[in-house]
Amino acid sequence: MTSLKTKFFGLELENPLIVASCSLTASPEKVREFSENGAGAIVLKSVFEEEIINEYNRVAQTKTSAHFDEFLDYFDYKIRDQVLSNYGRLIGEARKASRVPIVASINCVSSGDWLQFASQVEDAGADAIELNLFVMPCDPMNTAERNRNFYLNAVREVTGRVKVPVTVKISSYFSDLAAVCNALAGEKIKGLTLFNRFANPDIDIEKESLIEASPLSGEGEYLLPLRWVGILSPRLGCPIAASTGIHSAGQVIKMLLAGAHAVQMASLFYKQGASCLPKMLREIEQWMETHDYESIGDFRGRLSLTQSGNPAVYARAQYMSRFGGYSGSEHK
Ligand SMILES: Cc1cc2nc3c(=O)[nH]c(=O)nc-3n(C[C@H](O)[C@H](O)[C@H](O)COP(=O)(O)O)c2cc1C
Repeated sequence: MTSLKTKFFGLELENPLIVASCSLTASPEKVREFSENGAGAIVLKSVFEEEIINEYNRVAQTKTSAHFDEFLDYFDYKIRDQVLSNYGRLIGEARKASRVPIVASINCVSSGDWLQFASQVEDAGADAIELNLFVMPCDPMNTAERNRNFYLNAVREVTGRVKVPVTVKISSYFSDLAAVCNALAGEKIKGLTLFNRFANPDIDIEKESLIEASPLSGEGEYLLPLRWVGILSPRLGCPIAASTGIHSAGQVIKMLLAGAHAVQMASLFYKQGASCLPKMLREIEQWMETHDYESIGDFRGRLSLTQSGNPAVYARAQYMSRFGGYSGSEHK
């Protein structure tokens, strides 16, 4: 009997297919659909610290009275209260609509006050919390060390407050990526998601203007997380979920072979809807049967850095002599 059971978010999951945080997970109806189609867990749309800051700044620019500063304090409290109670309601409704774990996602751009919210998320009934942490490292005065401290402080702030499991989702934008992952894994977290994918700028050459690129990932983007899952899974003391560019059962299997405990997908569901889940689960089971595996533990990490027998493929980045005579015909 083939079992797809795995562990992530400190929870036992029926299977490794996690619906990643995105606008599809912002409604209880959609959450129900993902649950009924067999998702292993569902991460709700993030609640964003920046949304509160932006709203505050917008109102702050419209100074209208002598008592405006007092009003702003009140307003700050009011918007927080409203955003947070809406999110609490979503957690409660999603929890009722789903048979599978519901994970709340908190985004923050500064550690401190905002993270007190984690306790409210816990009280609202989330099974786990994913911290969606990101600081765009574009400030030339901001050092890697300062950045790293932001991540570690935010994680400590939250894990010190709540009893539910906490995981962290990061981008690949670190000069010392392996060291940062190692430091995060040394905190009290139950998993690391590699990697978040963000809105990208693009350029319209006809209008000569900046535009936003498609938010959906494309073919081949899974190769970046694949490399890092393979490199880090045998070395970190916490499970890894792979995210970005995973669009097929075959790519899920690749991530598991590289050492992931689970995958988080979003773009696929925008393209194909929740109904692609049962087919993917069947295809993974079929592959396991063909390869004589009864559980994910039988093959997870078989092709990681330490088990593949060919670690150089993970570490190699430059093409140098191996591709010196590359004509392209090999990959047609
Ligand atoms: C429209 C859209 C909205 C997203 N919103 C969030 C979010 O609120 N929080 C978050 O952590 N990730 C968010 N993501 C990122 C996804 O959770 C996921 O990590 C990323 O899209 C990579 O996976 P994919 O290639 O399967 O799309 C969003 C992605 C998309 C496409």
